Amino acid sequence: MDEKVLKRIKELREELEKHNYYYYVLDNPIISDAEYDRLMRELIELEEKYPEFLSPDSPTQKVGGKPRDEFKKFQHPEPMLSLSNVYSESEFLEFHNRIRKLLGREDFGYVIEPKYDGLAVEIIYRDGLLVTGSTRGDGTTGENVTDNIRTIKTLPLNLKIRAKKGTVIPDELILRGEVIIFKDDFRKLNEKRLEEGESLFANPRNAAAGSLKQLDPRITAERPLRIFVYSIVRPEPVIKTQYEFLQYAKELGLPVSDNVKIVYSPSEVLSFYREMQEKRHSLRFDIDGIVIKVNEFEYQGMLGNIAKSPRWAVAFKFPPVQETTVVKDIIVQVGRTGALTPVAVLEPVQVGGVTVSRATLHNQDEIDRLDIRVGDAVVVQRAGDVIPEIVKVIVERRPEGTGRFSLPDRCPVCKTDVVRDEDEAVVRCPNEECPARVIERIKHFVSRRAMNIEGLGEKIVEKLVIEKRLIRDVSDIYRLKAEDLKSLEGFGDKSAKNITDAINRSKKTTLRRFLFALGIRHVGENTAGLLADYFGDIREIMNAEEETLMKIPQIGEESAREISSYFRNIKNREIVEKLLGSGIEFETKTANESNVLSGKTFLITGTLSGFTRDEAKDFIVRNGGRILSSVSKKLDYLVVGEDPGSKLNKAQDMGIKIISEEELIRMVKEGKKN
Ligand code: IVH
Repeated sequence: MDEKVLKRIKELREELEKHNYYYYVLDNPIISDAEYDRLMRELIELEEKYPEFLSPDSPTQKVGGKPRDEFKKFQHPEPMLSLSNVYSESEFLEFHNRIRKLLGREDFGYVIEPKYDGLAVEIIYRDGLLVTGSTRGDGTTGENVTDNIRTIKTLPLNLKIRAKKGTVIPDELILRGEVIIFKDDFRKLNEKRLEEGESLFANPRNAAAGSLKQLDPRITAERPLRIFVYSIVRPEPVIKTQYEFLQYAKELGLPVSDNVKIVYSPSEVLSFYREMQEKRHSLRFDIDGIVIKVNEFEYQGMLGNIAKSPRWAVAFKFPPVQETTVVKDIIVQVGRTGALTPVAVLEPVQVGGVTVSRATLHNQDEIDRLDIRVGDAVVVQRAGDVIPEIVKVIVERRPEGTGRFSLPDRCPVCKTDVVRDEDEAVVRCPNEECPARVIERIKHFVSRRAMNIEGLGEKIVEKLVIEKRLIRDVSDIYRLKAEDLKSLEGFGDKSAKNITDAINRSKKTTLRRFLFALGIRHVGENTAGLLADYFGDIREIMNAEEETLMKIPQIGEESAREISSYFRNIKNREIVEKLLGSGIEFETKTANESNVLSGKTFLITGTLSGFTRDEAKDFIVRNGGRILSSVSKKLDYLVVGEDPGSKLNKAQDMGIKIISEEELIRMVKEGKKN
């Protein structure tokens, strides 16, 4: 009996691991999410029922283990070196000539790889099982972050499952690679953090570093970390060249970038450099140059190292998109959740074709790190398409009489003493009635994806809250009368009516939008949707215990805590009651909604004429369809508007059905899945 169970467990693990590879590494899933979830549930249930068969390499173990107090040190078996840099074609040619002379030959190859902008790690497999993952540290000693590394979805826990048949798996395999976050995943992560009132990451590299150094691996598991492997430390003798190694790593099922090339002349290096510089912005991950490595390990050995970097490799960096400018002021913004964010007001400057006049300084830790002061000359940078950041202060140009900048002890708006959250770099204004927070809450409440009240823009909200004192909390919006609005400067009958109409229209909404609109910390659109689907009734949610909330799949401890604490607060309950009392109604699935698109996936490209993008997405979801974020085999329909992007070509190549907006509407109207 047990044998049968064990056999099934093994089968499931292999299946799931195979699908992880298709999904995360090849970006090309071959089964539906539902099917995957079913297999995963079956495995979880079996492992729960037969804990004796639990195994650390099971795909169920990718969710992260227990938090720890600190990381243990890890001594690298061989030092982790860094790379020397070149910044121009002539500097690269000098490098090439040096190699030629030292080797006394020309018949060697160069492997060129992207220079990933993430953080270096070392991974050790024993008998095919992932046993250790560590950070670079000072090159000799790093931190043992195995529990976190294990959560990286693209990294196999057991090489035996993914490896191509016949691939030799050594007793010990020591690899190096870069942990990164893709740009689109980064954007989504920050969007989610914004919605949930968390501080934003400056760029994908910081997000990757912050995620990998979490003491709680369950948090790491929720972050979209990926890895690319780029070197082998042991066992070397079997593999003779860098290029062979990369092929071998692929055969083992390890993630290796496709943007790798082998060449035999310096001119090919230069053209690849130019090609990558062009391609840089369309890559899914940030790179800051290319890395050029002598291909043959034998020659690498002959060339050896200088100090802390190998003589046989070099990083050819891209010219950074940087400019210098001056900090005119540092202002402090108060967000919806009370977080105080320092923002540098800059003398406007063009960086890579975009005017930059502000840069977020994130928090006090970042200000201290840069020691940035009003009046300072600073270097600003836009890396890829990421928000501008201040890289450093040019201390030599610092004017006299400046002082260090500290976030105020009191909220700049309401003067309440601020508090610093434990474990967080964020300082918050704790006053729920702080006008800045009220304004941000109202702005969030009326925003398009929440209650969608058109016309209530930022300026009007500010006037209604501060000057007119007509709005103190979101429920006051539904008590606004046309006369109230007409008392505002520039408002006539018509504009006032437009807004009152929009307010009335917003009363017909969905539970999901309503929950999202309340602006509860850690409740973004997704979590709001999960709550709405699970409970289907606002009062049930208001009365749910933390433990009940935690039972909902995908709702974590933090969200559960925030939701129950929000609804335990009498003032919040009153606001919700007032909102419900003012006639807000939740649509359940009504006649114009359906499930006709159920099981089908969609992606939109180009500009639509009758819908905005968000409306079209909403339309699809309300009728049972799902939206994907990129073209893959999982995609059923690409909805194409004017000026479609590259997605169209890709979809055509893959033979995916292309439909127009009209065809989408027709599909729903006629209620059939073409
Ligand atoms: S090889 C001795 N390959 O660059 C060889 N490194 O400045 C050093 N990096 O710490 C590593 N992409 O974090 C190598 N394709 C690549 C890389 C790469 C990024 C990083 C790595 C390393 C740093 C060295």
